[in-house]
Amino acid sequence: MKLFDVYPLYNITPINAQDVFVTDEKGQEYLDLYGGHGVISIGHTHPKYVEKITDQIQKIGFYSNAVQNPLQVELAEKLGKLSGCEDYQLFLCNSGAEANENALKLASFETGKARIVAFENAFHGRTSAAVAVTDNEKINAPLNSQHSVSFLPLNDSEALEIELAKNDVCAVIIEPIQGVGGLDQGTTDFFKEVEKLCRKYKVILILDEVQSGYGRSGKFFAFQHHQIEPDIITVAKGMGNGFPIGGILVHPKIKAKYGMLGTTFGGNHLACAAAISVLEVIENEKLIDNVNEVSAYFFEKAKSLPQVKKIKGRGLMLGLEFDFDVAELRKKLIYEEHIFTGGSNNKNLIRILPPLTVKKEHIDRFFEALIRIEMLDMRI
Ligand SMILES: Cc1ncc(COP(=O)(O)O)c(C=O)c1O
Repeated sequence: MKLFDVYPLYNITPINAQDVFVTDEKGQEYLDLYGGHGVISIGHTHPKYVEKITDQIQKIGFYSNAVQNPLQVELAEKLGKLSGCEDYQLFLCNSGAEANENALKLASFETGKARIVAFENAFHGRTSAAVAVTDNEKINAPLNSQHSVSFLPLNDSEALEIELAKNDVCAVIIEPIQGVGGLDQGTTDFFKEVEKLCRKYKVILILDEVQSGYGRSGKFFAFQHHQIEPDIITVAKGMGNGFPIGGILVHPKIKAKYGMLGTTFGGNHLACAAAISVLEVIENEKLIDNVNEVSAYFFEKAKSLPQVKKIKGRGLMLGLEFDFDVAELRKKLIYEEHIFTGGSNNKNLIRILPPLTVKKEHIDRFFEALIRIEMLDMRI
């Protein structure tokens, strides 16, 4: 059987990884400033993480959600404490799309309504409702267009009020910092206005923290930069450091009913062990402090390069915008300088999503590489 060929692949085969480095089958080491789409939070194969998962699989890896699983309770308590969202309730699933799918479904149950407001250039995943609220026609099949979705510009609260006043909207879903879209973000005034309008029109406010959460923005959740209180927060990516796990944090005002959400694999023992270990490492190694320190250093370095037209994002969710298409530059970074970076819908933007353990010396290496490649040549 052949693989279903949906991914354009780089010709690199990683077989080993440690902290911020990935090694291929020829022994070539790469500096990973992309973390496999922002997934690697505590560093590849962190010893504490490996130990915790190894220990867990020797005891029990999986049983269904029909029995008690104290690891889920431990994970919920730890996540509540570290994120400052102790009052919220946790539902566990397996991916970011699934988290958003469940969040939207819950919003619809709660309000009895179906229309969703999302934002231009948003990305929320590839399952039915999650892809429908993703602003990209190319990845939406006719099946997905059954959902009723309105896309609005970021930072336009007047347009939002016009939509919410129609009283048929169940949810507003928004990324605190757009990932795939290219690192645009709403202002604090806008986020506060979104919160106010959602309260006024009794609409559920969903913050998609799948990419920006778990410390990546310099706070545990990126919405915390704006002092708002979402009704539902969705998480995945950094939560398991590569072990597939996602979740939704549900405000206490939303009450659970048996059967309203469910999953076979979500919250299994092994996934919980991975996710607990991630939180322990984030806390013990003060990784959020590291994010802020390395981020400030990155901004300083980037500002000194005249070829960089805009520095976007926060923390270690960053974008460098140039006035040319960066595809060639990114290829040179990979094949000549052995540094992984990311792209986005914005063809002029390099996306930087390193493990949260990255150090200043790695940032130095990246900027030295950029200078060596003589970025000005890339404009031709
Ligand atoms: C903001 C955001 N939401 C949701 C998703 C979907 O997550 P997953 O690929 O785990 O389904 C992504 C993935 O890139 C994302 O960046």
